[in-house]
Amino acid sequence: MQKIIAANWKMYKTRPEAAQTARELAGALASGLPDGRSVVIFPSFTNISEVADVFVANARVAVGGQNVYPEAEGAFTGEVSVAMLKDAGASWVLTGHSERRHVLGEGDGLVARKTAFALAHSLNVMLCIGETLQEREAGKLNDVLLRQVTTAFAGLPADQLEGRFAVAYEPVWAIGTGKVAGPAEVLDAHAVTRAIICDVAGQIGKKIPLLYGGSVKPDNAAALLGLDNVDGLLVGGASLAAQSFIQIVKA
Ligand code: 13P
Repeated sequence: MQKIIAANWKMYKTRPEAAQTARELAGALASGLPDGRSVVIFPSFTNISEVADVFVANARVAVGGQNVYPEAEGAFTGEVSVAMLKDAGASWVLTGHSERRHVLGEGDGLVARKTAFALAHSLNVMLCIGETLQEREAGKLNDVLLRQVTTAFAGLPADQLEGRFAVAYEPVWAIGTGKVAGPAEVLDAHAVTRAIICDVAGQIGKKIPLLYGGSVKPDNAAALLGLDNVDGLLVGGASLAAQSFIQIVKA
């Protein structure tokens, strides 16, 4: 399976800053991406078109939105539609990111609606899942993964997911904390997630990329990518500077 290396720029960068980072990335990738790798960049809404313009001719670098609202249009102040994302140059969207779940209060039901709506309207979706430290310490890791995956998959067309859907396991306690999950923890969570996905989606579950996210850095990327069931990385802080993101892409 191709490894997807994704950059989540969160609420960082003005338009000139985003364009500058995108140009630096494009320059570093001019000689090509390593075999078997593809890149997705998730800038803030206002920066999507700047970044998409830079990569318009590069089929292996895609751009995505960090959020979407599950209605075609309407009175939803502050939200963004699939059509708006696509018009700006996005082909992917993140759903269920832990900051949306835990800072902005999104529940599993809304995450499921966003996931289904985006897929049904031809955006590719990267669904984020992961447990808090409290949940892990209470022995609830498997329950949380089961709940988050099953609710998001309910009603998804399994036969249309290949190449259009990815799941990112991001333990909340490892995001932006410098605490990367250890190899045993990543192996375990990814094996559990793979089993759940195969259960709910059938054979196609084996072909759905499973990414790891949480304090990924240039010096731990290669080891993480070498683990079973790790089909890519979703990178926050270390994706903001082109140099460190490129090292991760090439790890
Ligand atoms: P950090 O890489 O900064 O820990 O962020 C991970 C993340 O939330 C990516 O979506």
